[in-house]
Amino acid sequence: MSAVDLFEAYALPARAVRTPFVRCNMVSTLDGATSVQGRSGPLGGPADRRVFHVLRSLADVVLVGAGTVRSERYGPARLDDDLRVRRISEGRSPVPPIAVVTGSGDLDWRASFFTDAEVRPLVFVAGAARRRIGERAQRVANVVVAGEERVDPRLVLEHLGRAGHRSVLLEGGPTLNSAVLRAGLLDELCLTMPPRLVAGDGPRLVTGPELARPLELEIVHLLEEDGLLFFRLAVPRS
Ligand SMILES: NC(=O)c1ccc[n+]([C@@H]2O[C@H](COP(=O)([O-])OP(=O)(O)OC[C@H]3O[C@@H](n4cnc5c(N)ncnc54)[C@H](OP(=O)(O)O)[C@@H]3O)[C@@H](O)[C@H]2O)c1
Repeated sequence: MSAVDLFEAYALPARAVRTPFVRCNMVSTLDGATSVQGRSGPLGGPADRRVFHVLRSLADVVLVGAGTVRSERYGPARLDDDLRVRRISEGRSPVPPIAVVTGSGDLDWRASFFTDAEVRPLVFVAGAARRRIGERAQRVANVVVAGEERVDPRLVLEHLGRAGHRSVLLEGGPTLNSAVLRAGLLDELCLTMPPRLVAGDGPRLVTGPELARPLELEIVHLLEEDGLLFFRLAVPRS
């Protein structure tokens, strides 16, 4: 992969079938675990970090579930200078905003994820949680109600599209991936696969009951570095 121009390899489609285009980026072991001891960091490596940052730099907005923000102790988006300069030259913010999906509103509003963010985060909440989180959240984030009991991913993407975002980078976790996939909103999966078995009970890429029809993805590319495989997979449009 070292000889590959990652910006070319991961370039977003010039004409997406629909807007915003939703690309999911995940790491999974050969036996399907997306975390060990509750964290995904140990599964990747330097090459995975490179791809992670390139994908963030290409995205208009990052979308993530509250479980991942809590378990991975998400910080504010940071990009190296060259990636920032590239975004600025394209008329975009130096880093993409991060949008969090929560049903409970159980987030630490004093965490650096909110207080040190260069671009104000968005929080998509279910209506019930909106009443509970009150003013604290509003001071550090743009809070949007997108559903009553659960957050409806369709409403999330409609909101992001109306805000002018043409590409969404979904960074998991499995519960949010599942909601987006089952709503038929996923366009692409970028999957890093280390050649490793871990067993245990780390969640798979998507949760919930078996799909009525398996989803067959198309390989756009398959790269390798340090034994890690990097799949770019397209979800075919029916
Ligand atoms: N390998 C990887 O690339 C990768 C990437 C990301 C995460 N992970 C791993 O995944 C694990 C976390 O899994 P997870 O499934 O809990 O992650 P998640 O999808 O990030 O979080 C689940 C939580 O997000 C909120 N949420 C998601 N969809 C929602 C919806 N439609 N409506 C309302 N709320 C919604 C809920 O938050 P509330 O509880 O606040 O209501 C829910 O409890 C961690 O161990 C993490 O390390 C791995």
